[in-house]
Formats: sequence, C-alpha cells, structure tokens
Amino acid sequence: MPHKVQILINGRREEVPAHISVAAAIAAIGQGATRRDLTGAPRAACCGMGVCFECRVRIDGAEKLGCLTRVSQGMEITTDA
Ligand code: FES
Repeated sequence: MPHKVQILINGRREEVPAHISVAAAIAAIGQGATRRDLTGAPRAACCGMGVCFECRVRIDGAEKLGCLTRVSQGMEITTDA
C-alpha cells in the first residue's frame, strides 16, 4: 500500500498520507473549511464521527461526509468553502 496518495481538492493537486480521512486531508493542507452555512460563515469538521454533518463535501461527484471517507488515489474533492 502506498504511503501517500495524490488527490484534487478544489482543482488543486495535493499529496497526502494514504491512511487519513478527507476531513483530515482538508485540514492538513490548511484549507480548514469544508463548506459555508446559510450566513456564509465557514464551517469545518467538528465531531469526526458522522454526527454533525459539518464535513459534507462532494467527492467524485457525490455528497459524502469527509470524516468517514478515507482518501484514495485520484479522488476529486470539492468544498463549498
Ligand atoms: S465531522 Fe461531524 S459528521 Fe463529519
């Protein structure tokens, strides 16, 4: 298993550890926010266990929870933030 994978986050190519979640990858590259709320305020992963839904992102075209999804080679992630 490779130690690193390449992913696209909002069109930007990033190399991240292969064992981390999408939410962790977003935090690791310094983006922080995963989406914006109705007031436009940035939101980010909070619970890390699939309860708060603050980590919702689009992964390969489908909306998923970043905290429960592990990164994989070539994954395309889009945030609303
Ligand atoms: S961080 Fe709470 S559901 Fe993902």
